[in-house]
Amino acid sequence: MRVFVTGGAGFIGSHYVRTLLDSRHPGFEQARVTVLDKLTYAGNRANLPPDGPRLTFVEGDVCDRTLLFDLLPGHDVVVHFAAESHVDRSLVNASAFMHTNVAGTQTLLDACVAAGVQRVVHISTDEVYGSIDEGSWTEESPLLPNSPYAASKAASDLVARSYWRSHGLDLSITRCSNNYGPYQHTEKLIPLFVTNLLDGQPVGLYGDGSNVREWLHVDDHCRAVQLVLTRGRPGEVYNVGRGNERTNRQMADLLVGLCGAVPGLVRPVPDRKGHDLRYSLDDRKIRDELGFEPAVPFEQGLADVVTWYRDNPDWWRPLRDTAHRLPLQNFPSPSPDGDPTTAAV
Ligand code: NAD
Ligand code: DAU
Repeated sequence: MRVFVTGGAGFIGSHYVRTLLDSRHPGFEQARVTVLDKLTYAGNRANLPPDGPRLTFVEGDVCDRTLLFDLLPGHDVVVHFAAESHVDRSLVNASAFMHTNVAGTQTLLDACVAAGVQRVVHISTDEVYGSIDEGSWTEESPLLPNSPYAASKAASDLVARSYWRSHGLDLSITRCSNNYGPYQHTEKLIPLFVTNLLDGQPVGLYGDGSNVREWLHVDDHCRAVQLVLTRGRPGEVYNVGRGNERTNRQMADLLVGLCGAVPGLVRPVPDRKGHDLRYSLDDRKIRDELGFEPAVPFEQGLADVVTWYRDNPDWWRPLRDTAHRLPLQNFPSPSPDGDPTTAAV
């Protein structure tokens, strides 16, 4: 079995690759893995072990057609994580989001068709559904993305569906809620808050902190991805949630407690543009059809993540303290030079 993983040096992709290399997935114990990753600011080669008999790392772009057509033949399955993933950056400059998330998906799927790949899972997100005040989204809910990031992911979902429908590519789509876990970039809420609070530095809570996110441990997400890869039906979408809904204010309070910080470090800052109020997934389909059951209890998982960041400052300090770090509050408008890493507040 040969598995091709895009974005495998990022947060979720690297976790998935580590579970493959740890032989945690039945039938894939001997799987050989090729990782394709551009190593953008979000990718880190150190998130994976060195190359060996079961792992080959290729630094490259999912938009590079020649490279993909060269690499993909001989692979049985593809799991597509590669994406620009941060909403705030998409509000500064959406170009890379459209390029990688939409054109990159199309280029990858062209190569999958040409290479005769047997099975593909396209990793998407609950954000494609927009924002929901009450109730939960099913897989039949309309796509109403609000940020450029979410719009690019929704577009990529439709591209993926079209390759199943037009070319008969055996492909399924997962739409997961907010992940948390080790190796997540410090630009995202939990790692940013944890690393700052551990250092006694302030953190910025967007708006009034009442926005709700649904949290799932990355290990549960990766088990769901593997279930969909092995047993999901072609052309189908699977929501992956947990039901752990928390306001950002509640998350901030939890993290202050776990980090042993003082509550005054949590400061209100201007709201994110178009900030989605609430995400909530109805995940009965993956539970009923594939028997998915999340395993990591939220409070324990969160405490373990704080411990991981406490124990691994060498991993996160270079990320948090580089020019790629975003300011605490959201950017009011796109930066003049279009570079999200240099924009000023
Ligand atoms: P991440 O930003 O941590 O990692 C993305 C990876 O993709 C990085 O290693 C980066 O170098 C790579 N990449 C970016 N552009 C590339 C390109 N053009 N070619 C090749 N590689 C490229 O993101 P993540 O949080 O691990 O998310 C992975 C996937 O899961 C994304 O598709 C995201 O939309 C989706 N998702 C994320 C979450 C979450 O909470 N983080 C939830 C649901 C879905
Ligand atoms: O729902 C799935 C999505 O979750 C994924 O598709 C995205 O790739 C992933 O980045 C994540 O998107 P969010 O925008 O929900 O995550 P983020 O960590 O950026 O923010 C979580 C919430 O916390 C959101 O309501 C904004 C708020 N926030 C975030 C930061 C970074 C703050 O209040 N302050 C902050 O400094």
